[in-house]
Amino acid sequence: MIIRQEQASDHNAVYQIIKSAFSNVTHSDGSEPELVVALRRSKAFVPDLSLVAICNENIVGHILFTEVTVNGKTELALAPLSVLPSYQRQGIGLALIAEGHRIARESGYDYSIVLGHPNYYPKAGYHPARLYGMKPPFEVPDDSFMAIKLNPAAEPLNGIVKYDPAFGI
Ligand SMILES: CC(C)(COP(=O)(O)OP(=O)(O)OC[C@H]1O[C@@H](n2cnc3c(N)ncnc32)[C@H](O)[C@@H]1OP(=O)(O)O)[C@@H](O)C(=O)NCCC(=O)NCCS
Repeated sequence: MIIRQEQASDHNAVYQIIKSAFSNVTHSDGSEPELVVALRRSKAFVPDLSLVAICNENIVGHILFTEVTVNGKTELALAPLSVLPSYQRQGIGLALIAEGHRIARESGYDYSIVLGHPNYYPKAGYHPARLYGMKPPFEVPDDSFMAIKLNPAAEPLNGIVKYDPAFGI
């Protein structure tokens, strides 16, 4: 498996991967492929942090981190993460997250935030975001709103996470 930065020629394949990954997810409204289209056009987009996983020359997974602000600091939000159903549970999701974190650290971000399954993201190092003083701008179960400290020296942020308007929040 190879992980590399998404290119413009990948956009259609990535749309289909996201659609397929979320098609059986009960809490999804099916908006994830269009969210990625909107985020690519937004100020929050970081080209280095839209990554694809490739197996046998086919794109089988995608991850996007975009910029958010917390208390005046620019950090990252992971959303969405998609692995083609027939390739799930083989470590591709965790590999995409780990590569995104590596690039994010190199780029100088202190935190990545995620709203997601509290059984899954702790496997990638996420903890409840409240531990870092971060609060969601919407009502969610406390344990679903998580963050990872990418820079061990980072101070707690103590603020509400502000997402790009593309998220429609
Ligand atoms: C969630 C998703 C990205 C995980 O990708 P993946 O490549 O299947 O995950 P990995 O193989 O890297 O996961 C490894 C571990 O996570 C567990 N896991 C995988 N999917 C999980 C899920 N949905 N919930 C809880 N745990 C999960 C695996 O059992 C495995 O655990 P183990 O190592 O203790 O056995 C993928 O299932 C997917 O695309 N789902 C549909 C879209 C979605 O829900 N995206 C996330 C939105 S928050």
